Amino acid sequence: MVEAVAFPSGVVQLAFGGGLEPLLTGAGKVVMLTNEHVARLYPEQFAGRQTIVLPPGENTKDVATVARVAEELLALGAGRDALLVAVGGGVITDIGGFAASIFMRGIRFGFVPTTLLGMIDAALGGKNGVNLNLHKNMLGTFTHPAFIYFDPKWLKTLPTVEWSNGFAEIIKYGFIADKNLYDELHSGFLGGYREDPDAASNLIRRCVDIKVDTVVRDEKEKNIRKLLNYGHTVGHAVETLYDLPHGHSVAVGMVVAAMVSEQVTGIVGLEQLTVSLLDRYYLPTYIKIDPANVTALLRADKKRRGDAVDFIVLEAVGRAAIHTLPFQLIHETLQAYVGRS
Ligand SMILES: NC(=O)c1ccc[n+]([C@@H]2O[C@H](COP(=O)([O-])OP(=O)(O)OC[C@H]3O[C@@H](n4cnc5c(N)ncnc54)[C@H](O)[C@@H]3O)[C@@H](O)[C@H]2O)c1
Repeated sequence: MVEAVAFPSGVVQLAFGGGLEPLLTGAGKVVMLTNEHVARLYPEQFAGRQTIVLPPGENTKDVATVARVAEELLALGAGRDALLVAVGGGVITDIGGFAASIFMRGIRFGFVPTTLLGMIDAALGGKNGVNLNLHKNMLGTFTHPAFIYFDPKWLKTLPTVEWSNGFAEIIKYGFIADKNLYDELHSGFLGGYREDPDAASNLIRRCVDIKVDTVVRDEKEKNIRKLLNYGHTVGHAVETLYDLPHGHSVAVGMVVAAMVSEQVTGIVGLEQLTVSLLDRYYLPTYIKIDPANVTALLRADKKRRGDAVDFIVLEAVGRAAIHTLPFQLIHETLQAYVGRS
């Protein structure tokens, strides 16, 4: 099934099954982009195709790699009518989307997310970014892919740690937007979704719908799209400083965001609910951090406003809000968090 979604700045074909081939028609040269893990696990997906293969890992998500992709595209003879298809997790789709959106001032690109996190979050929404030194996603564009091809078959080889990585964002969707999803997650468990492709597909579809609906209404993150950053302000800092996977960092960020929410909105018991749900999906909750380092990095955040930062808090499970909060309050909360680690 293929569904066309009209975002303000472009139409994206969301394809759920049906094969990749029909999505590749009409382009000039088709070049695939992936990483060594995915290329090794799925050689048949790249057989007979010109493919750029990058080393895996978040530390490849930088301008040097984008330059390398552009050089390889040139060497393969890609012109302005080329189509770049990024096949991989969020690191590959971020690099591919950014490289394609600036190569020759922009060529068409498509995404085939191969991780849970990629399917329910990273491939969706038109944000393509790479890191600049310690600054996460500091360089990037808002450009949608021409298509996103969803196929749960990739998830069969995904390690447990990457499943739980994706569940951090799924739990986030429950907290900010969908109390029913939150309830389902409380009775479900990771292995259950893993062993049941239909349950996993349904879950992916629900999360895709939440993200698409949010981005259609606020593509450029002026208001409600910011709510998707629940857990991400502290999460991004932790990801950079402590070299944790994205979802694991967001999990830690959600524990801190729950503590902040309890102070700011008066919501009761959120920290406990958050910790029990994260535990259920093998996600970290209390880790050793240095509050001074985290706060220093937050001060360099894109979303900072002088001595304060836009921070997403929960008013209730299923309802989030944006509050501009002083760094001091966040710093004190981080100190309280450390006391529990
Ligand atoms: N652009 C956005 O809107 C957005 C949103 C969320 C996250 N992100 C970015 O996404 C990145 C995280 O994405 P991720 O969690 O997918 O990490 P990732 O891309 O590093 O993939 C995680 C690991 O899984 C491996 N892998 C990929 N597919 C596999 C498969 N089918 N089977 C086995 N192994 C597989 C990869 O090689 C890698 O080692 C971060 O850089 C984050 O900033 C971007």
